[in-house]
Amino acid sequence: MTPTILLLNGPNLNLLGSRQPEIYGSTTLADIGADCVRHGRTLGLAVDFRQSNHEGELVDWIQGARGTAAGIIINPAAYSHTSIAILDALLAVELPVIEVHLSNIHQREEYRRHSYVSQAARGVICGFASHGYILALDAMKRLVAPACPPPDSEEA
Ligand code: DQA
Repeated sequence: MTPTILLLNGPNLNLLGSRQPEIYGSTTLADIGADCVRHGRTLGLAVDFRQSNHEGELVDWIQGARGTAAGIIINPAAYSHTSIAILDALLAVELPVIEVHLSNIHQREEYRRHSYVSQAARGVICGFASHGYILALDAMKRLVAPACPPPDSEEA
């Protein structure tokens, strides 16, 4: 069975490509999604890529991941800095979580330097623009499906 990774994007990320390209780059969310699905396939992972501008919808999707997804990668966007509801949902589902930001949030305004979501994350990747999503998938692969032992090892 191919493990499914739920890849969530928060508010305003639907505008990527035209939204402050000097900060977020010129790649659209559709392009990032297509790259993630393609890269996931090479890793043996199915990527379920979604975006919402609504906190409650993100919470519903996170809750729904229990029993259906092997891990969650999330760019919570502005909700990173405000949402205890998203943090609580991520803690409740007990799945490996990786947090991604396109920009380096630690180099920006003070209010972006704290993320509630980080408390539920195994790791955080920020500052690598859209490549951060690919790095997150590589890291998630190691968490959910570590390499099989070589055929001549004792376990084989
Ligand atoms: C962001 C950083 C957040 O502070 C901001 O609100 C976003 C995008 C990023 O990917 O760099 O919307 O999560």
